[in-house]
Amino acid sequence: MRIVKSVAGMQRLAMRWRRTGNRIGFVPTMGYLHSGHLSLVRAARRAVGPRGKVVLSIFVNPTQFAPTEDLSDYPRDLKRDLRLCRAEGVDVVFAPSVQEMYPAKPAESFSTFVIEEALSKGMEGTSRPTHFRGVTTVVAKLFNIVQPDVAVFGAKDYQQTAVVRRMVRDLNFPLRLLVAPIFREPDGLAMSSRNKYLEGDLRRQATVLSRSIQDVRTALARASRPLPSGRLRVRVKKLVEKEPSARLDYVEFFEPETLRPVKQVRKGTHMALAVFMGKTRLIDNARL
Ligand code: PAJ
Repeated sequence: MRIVKSVAGMQRLAMRWRRTGNRIGFVPTMGYLHSGHLSLVRAARRAVGPRGKVVLSIFVNPTQFAPTEDLSDYPRDLKRDLRLCRAEGVDVVFAPSVQEMYPAKPAESFSTFVIEEALSKGMEGTSRPTHFRGVTTVVAKLFNIVQPDVAVFGAKDYQQTAVVRRMVRDLNFPLRLLVAPIFREPDGLAMSSRNKYLEGDLRRQATVLSRSIQDVRTALARASRPLPSGRLRVRVKKLVEKEPSARLDYVEFFEPETLRPVKQVRKGTHMALAVFMGKTRLIDNARL
């Protein structure tokens, strides 16, 4: 397994592989890898075959964090990440520095951003107004650096997959996007690098996100007719706030393709929520 730190080095490698007909599968991450990330690696490998090349990037992207967010304490452990990647058969880990991706002072030397203007609004976009601008910018850069045939994203960040899919279409990136299902702990908690922050009873309380989804499913099944989203919102808020350290940031019911909020929730409607567990913000989503 190779570790590449420079943009030029990664581009050279990608161009060589393209010339020799090796397909490239790409998994962008911010590191502190868990089984969810590794399931994306396996999906990338399946997509490109044994002769293909699988690249995983590790880059904690500053432009997708607001000044008030957890950029500086975002968990990092490169040594452990590299060990996991090696065991999983990753061919190259691309791990650039911030300076390599955003040279010098951003305001002076880096001044081009990619902005998706429709699907980025609402939900994560409301709570984190500059977040998706950072995501689309770094993902566009990574696509130009790694030049993948296939890029794999996780359904855990459902709105992110919709925004990136739109960017790929609108800007004609010549690649196929794959979305892998959410990988969960046995008790239902969606795996996340931020779960590391959940100490003591917070870890138990955090199951309230997946329990909320289950609860809405049960309510829908019992009613056997569509239910008003307003009522379900109140129901979820009550359930979440039974947990002493939990505060509901948002819960939304929407059409899975357009992300358009619906008034009537039925089977097939998508549900997403964000919850603060103490200082840690967790998200989850599912198709009902
Ligand atoms: P990160 O949070 O590290 O996630 C990297 C990829 O892993 C994303 O596509 C995410 O959806 C997926 N993932 C995380 N937890 C998962 C789980 N439990 N099951 C399945 N997939 C999961 O998302 C980012 O980084 C960044 O925004 C990035 C796309 C790398 C741009 O900086």
